[in-house]
Order: sequence, then C-alpha cells, then structure tokens
Amino acid sequence: MGFPQIRMRRLRSRVALRQMVQETRLSPTDFVMPLFVCPGQDVRREISSMPEQYQWSVDRIAEKAQEIAEVGVPAVLLFGIPESKDALGTRAYAEDAVVCRTVEKIKTRCPSLIVITDVCLCEYTDHGHCGVIKTDPSGRPYVDNDATLELLAREALAYARAGADIVAPSDMMDGRVGVIRKQLDENGFHHVAIMAYSAKYASAFYGPFREAADSAPQFGDRTQYQMDPPNLREALREIALDIEEGADIVMVKPALAYLDVIRAASDRFDIPLAAYQVSGEYAMVKAAAARGWLDEKRVGLEILTAIRRAGAKIIITYWAEKATEWLNTNSG
Ligand code: PBG
Repeated sequence: MGFPQIRMRRLRSRVALRQMVQETRLSPTDFVMPLFVCPGQDVRREISSMPEQYQWSVDRIAEKAQEIAEVGVPAVLLFGIPESKDALGTRAYAEDAVVCRTVEKIKTRCPSLIVITDVCLCEYTDHGHCGVIKTDPSGRPYVDNDATLELLAREALAYARAGADIVAPSDMMDGRVGVIRKQLDENGFHHVAIMAYSAKYASAFYGPFREAADSAPQFGDRTQYQMDPPNLREALREIALDIEEGADIVMVKPALAYLDVIRAASDRFDIPLAAYQVSGEYAMVKAAAARGWLDEKRVGLEILTAIRRAGAKIIITYWAEKATEWLNTNSG
C-alpha cells in the first residue's frame, strides 16, 4: 500500500499528535553542566569565546551550582584553573587544590547535586600537556604514559576524598581507568564511579575550552594520545578496554561531528553512554546566533536531540542550564 491511502502528513497535523509519535525526547535529567573554577575572590569572568559561560572563584561557584540544581540539572562537571603550574601538575592533586575546595563547598550547599570532576593534568602543567613529559634518546619530547598514571590516580583520589561522586579521566593515557579504580578501592572509595572519556578525539572543536581552562599545549599538540578523527573501530576498542578496566560510564567526545561513533557505541555496549558537546560546538552556534544567522534555542535543542537520537544517554553540554529552562517552557 502507498499513496493515497498512506499519507505521512496525517500524524504531523497537530502538536499533541506530533508529541505522541515523537521517538526521541530530551530530558533535563540527562544533562551535565560543565563549570570552571579559578583562583581569587569574588570572580565571575565571562569566557570570551564561550558567551554566557564563566570562570568562577571558589567562593562564588557553590551559589551558581545551587542555581543549576534548582533549575533541575542533576550534575555538574568541574574543571580547575590553579594558582600556579609546574611540570608535574602538582596543583591537581594537592589536598587544598581549587577543585577539592570547590567539591567540598558544593556538597555542603547542595548535597544532592551530583559532582563530577574532570581528571587530567593539562590545566595544571606549565607545558599544557595531559601528562608527564620525558625526552626520548633522540631528544624528542613525549608524554610518558606510565609515569602519568600514578599522578592521575592521586588526582582522582584527592577528588574522591573531597567528596566527588564521579571522577572523569580525560587524559587518554592507556590503563588509567584500571589504575584509578584500584586506587579508589584501596582507599575505601568503592562507591565513587568512573566516567571515562573513552573515545576522545584530537579535535579542533576544543579551541575555546583551552582559553576557558588555560590549558593550551605550549609545544606540539595532543595527537600522540588523543584519537585520530577518521577512526571509528578504534573508538570501540577504546570503549571496550575502559569497560574491562572498570569504567561505569563511557564517553564519546566531541559529539556533533561524531554521531556515528555514538550510534555504533550505543548499539554495541550496554553500559551508560555519555557524549560531550564540547566548547567549539557551543561557540559556533553562539557566534552565528549573535549575528542573527541562527536561532540559538531551536538549533541548540535540535543538536541536543540529535545526540540523544544517536544513542547517548548522558549529555554534557554548556547549554545544560539553558536547555532545561527551554524544555520546561516548551510544552507547546
Ligand atoms: C582536558 C579536557 C579538555 C576538554 C575536556 N577535558 C581539553 C583537551 O583535551 O584539550 C575539552 C572540553 C571542551 O572543549 O569543551 N584534557
């Protein structure tokens, strides 16, 4: 049977009908809001390449987290900008590290908000790389995988001690999920979950983030540890390895240019899948919207829906708070 008995437009004729047959629905309970915490007092500094996103000082961030929780976003993801940087990123795992103090403040003010901490060294090292730099016999510098693992485990433990619910390693060192799991378990943090940035690509879409987190590499780039954008099968191997090492949630990052990877991962694995809609994905829509070229709300919701439709359950997005407001007022 075909036309004229079948008319696809019938079910599109009314709002309520369209909603009844809607296959994908965004829910604010799936969103995670990234937040940047910086040194100083009473700081709320807008990130120029990410309009309406801010660096917050520790004394102000808990108030912001509470606002986010009250809107209905269930979780925040914290990034720290330290007072000082060095070769080993020691301000990442110090007990009084900026992220540790932030976790404590947020957990005191709104205990039910899920606090996730990014675990990586790039914001804390003076060279801006995600691990320990060594030099090979020919004089070429490289990020040493195994020497970095111990520091990442210390960082994750410091965040767990401060009260983080989930730690999220984003460094792309091999074996880090297993090492972090072991470190947490040996110290009594069996209940702290790991969200692994499993398939994290060496992407130009991170551009604005490096201003936001002050984490641009001082030499070279991250192509020796982050994934090569053309590869999909390799992403599935990365995810399988992280699951084996004990990840509770796995992630694909970025999101929009990697919807096929999200789809393949969600078809293959039964573990909760997260997607990170990164800084550049947000910035390009904001820039076009500022010129009147795109409607921020409609485009924002359309992209978030696409990420959900591709198979991501959890969506990390700079629109988390705003999209929740959009969805709450969008019943028509
Ligand atoms: C840290 C980290 C980065 C992002 C999240 N964690 C930057 C990078 O790997 O260069 C990017 C997030 C974004 O662009 O929004 N390694």
